[in-house]
Amino acid sequence: MIQPEFSGAKVLITGGLGFIGSNLARRLVGSGANVTLIDSLIPEYGGNLFNVHDIRERISVSITDVRDPHAMAHVIKGQDYLFNLAGQTSHVDSMSDPMTDLEINAAAQLSILEACRKHNPAIKVVFGSTRQLYGRPQYLPVDEKHPIRPVDVNGINKLAGEWYHLVYNDVYGIRGCALRLTNTYGPGMRVKDGRQTFLAIWIRNLVQGKPILVYGDGSQLRDFNYVEDAVEALITAAVHPAAQGQVFNLGAAEVISLKALAEKLVAMHGSGRYELVPFPPERKAIDIGDYYSDFAKIRSQLDWLPKVPLQQGLRQTLEYYAAHGSHYWAEP
Ligand SMILES: NC(=O)c1ccc[n+]([C@@H]2O[C@H](COP(=O)([O-])OP(=O)(O)OC[C@H]3O[C@@H](n4cnc5c(N)ncnc54)[C@H](O)[C@@H]3O)[C@@H](O)[C@H]2O)c1
Repeated sequence: MIQPEFSGAKVLITGGLGFIGSNLARRLVGSGANVTLIDSLIPEYGGNLFNVHDIRERISVSITDVRDPHAMAHVIKGQDYLFNLAGQTSHVDSMSDPMTDLEINAAAQLSILEACRKHNPAIKVVFGSTRQLYGRPQYLPVDEKHPIRPVDVNGINKLAGEWYHLVYNDVYGIRGCALRLTNTYGPGMRVKDGRQTFLAIWIRNLVQGKPILVYGDGSQLRDFNYVEDAVEALITAAVHPAAQGQVFNLGAAEVISLKALAEKLVAMHGSGRYELVPFPPERKAIDIGDYYSDFAKIRSQLDWLPKVPLQQGLRQTLEYYAAHGSHYWAEP
């Protein structure tokens, strides 16, 4: 879908070689934007040049670390929009290496905003935040008024990153907002291992003929957004005046248990199996139990609704990895 506001606009995407950033880039290029991607391509993270292989000639790519304030100041100059999606996204890694998570998800966010304040105060910023900062839900569905109680270091640092954006909006007028994404899936997600999301390694295992491992009794409830819906929300938040200074949950109307999701994937794939296995202790300690979002705020204020049914999104994702999986799990 063409988004006229982006025709000729200069757009910077941090984490642009990652899953959501690359899908966003494809959509923006299609709307005539001049897109620059920033990504560090740290091997353990989600960046992958194959994610942009089809649009490589139509974008600029800078292999830059968002922790480098001088480089960031340079690339932020002259941009109309910043989609700030670079992040350390592994919850388990944030516990084993908390300082790296702090540097990327909090400190670097502050220096990016400082660069905006000093060099480009007219820029509009959308931050990719997370539902993880709510912690274990006290009620369901979780709305934006739900208490914040992160269960891991990643949730704390993402919260700081999010609030820096809101403070810079309120105090300095750097127009910004944050979307608290729920589980997002689709082509381009990092499926190498279980570091980022369980769904990724499930899909890899299914495609490779290995069993899906479901932790616990599989009764945990989750909601999922297909990446095209998340991209639509990011774009809407960037252009809608009502988004400024706000935080919005993303979510989906379809809620499913992990066991039912595993069954659905096996049925769709036409082969494979799943096994219920005990939680590894390091995951049990930071598990949030059931979670699904109340996304009434973004629906009513920005008119965003997820459109891709889970069945369709999963099918497209499975097909993508059946065709292109080797670009995601082979060593470069
Ligand atoms: N995918 C989800 O389910 C989900 C859920 C909630 C929040 N989010 C947030 O959305 C954003 C995008 O997530 P994603 O799923 O596309 O993850 P991803 O790992 O695919 O993309 C993140 C990108 O950031 C890059 N990056 C990491 N550290 C960097 C650094 N120091 N400098 C430059 N680039 C760096 C990585 O190389 C990667 O390409 C993240 O901030 C994440 O916290 C995602």
